[in-house]
Amino acid sequence: MATRENTQIRLASRPKGVVTLDNFAMAKEPVASITAGQVLVKNLFMSVDPYMRGRMNDVKSYVPPFQIGKVLQAGVVGEVVESKNPKFAEGDVVSGMLGWETYSISDGKGLQKVIVGKAPLSYHLGILGMPGMTAYVGLVGIGKAQPGESVFVSAASGAVGSIVGQLAKALGCHVAGCASTDEKIALMKSEFGYDAGFNYKTSKSIPESIKEVCPKGIDVDFENVGGQIFEAALWNMNNFGRIALCGMIANYNDEKLQPGPRGMASIIGKRLTIRGFIVGDEPALCREYVEKATRWLESGELKYRETVANGIMKAPQAFIDLLNGKNVGKQIVKIAES
Ligand SMILES: NC(=O)c1ccc[n+]([C@@H]2O[C@H](COP(=O)([O-])OP(=O)(O)OC[C@H]3O[C@@H](n4cnc5c(N)ncnc54)[C@H](OP(=O)(O)O)[C@@H]3O)[C@@H](O)[C@H]2O)c1
Repeated sequence: MATRENTQIRLASRPKGVVTLDNFAMAKEPVASITAGQVLVKNLFMSVDPYMRGRMNDVKSYVPPFQIGKVLQAGVVGEVVESKNPKFAEGDVVSGMLGWETYSISDGKGLQKVIVGKAPLSYHLGILGMPGMTAYVGLVGIGKAQPGESVFVSAASGAVGSIVGQLAKALGCHVAGCASTDEKIALMKSEFGYDAGFNYKTSKSIPESIKEVCPKGIDVDFENVGGQIFEAALWNMNNFGRIALCGMIANYNDEKLQPGPRGMASIIGKRLTIRGFIVGDEPALCREYVEKATRWLESGELKYRETVANGIMKAPQAFIDLLNGKNVGKQIVKIAES
């Protein structure tokens, strides 16, 4: 058999503030032979996600930092093309944390077989994968949203936010959010379940805009952004409100660690609960969500959008675009045909 060639994207340097294409390097090398217990996966789709920005820094966190000169890691869906692991057979479709590369070798740990259904394979990195689970865990498990309550979501048209809107609407909540363009706001209202939304880039006052879209105040803030949007949400919280701290993308490039939001004393007066979470902390809720979402997708109750970049070489630009809000829905990189 002809030797397979692996194209990889490696970390060339750590970003200083914003991520640039210079932070990445492309490498090609022959695919190594697998040994006992290993599988060779042909990667089909990979996910680029905001948390990867944190992994580019050399800091201790809930996931280890990427290493300079080494291939970057990502959630991947791929096909097993060779197996010396009894749990996997050639032709199995699998998902797991693999590389920004065309082929990955795995010892099978953390690799899961994908039950191939009606949904396209890339959906297992989005609505049926980590971002969808995050929406459910944050809204139901952390925010404890109840029918009739008011939910506010930042980065509302993205992978997580587009699902939070639909879940909150199905629960019987009033749901509002913000995003960076009028087109995204229109889509949030027409497809993603939002009752109202505003463009935070053109808003004259973010606290006032939140008041307009959540006239009865906020009971659950699903916080994806941080910074001035989080501060404005804090000022609009109702008594006994819950803040599900999912992400703080506005701060990910911030090297100086700016002070937190003003108005923290309101947390006491309003008896707020603020809780950060990592989706993997709640495996039972994740399973519950995937089972429900598979049905809701098939019945058309859940809508889904992807922005797809074609080819592994496009992965660095796709990641930079994600951090700059160019994506609508989930940002995916298509690596190969199945
Ligand atoms: N806790 C967890 O387990 C967990 C899991 C998954 C994701 N997350 C977090 O959830 C958030 C959303 O993730 P995602 O995967 O769904 O990404 P996403 O929303 O699909 O993409 C990121 C979006 O963030 C917005 N954004 C970027 N920079 C911004 C800034 N400076 N100010 C305001 N908005 C900005 C952009 O949209 P617009 O500017 O157009 O709104 C961009 O499209 C991120 O903070 C991520 O880290 C957390």
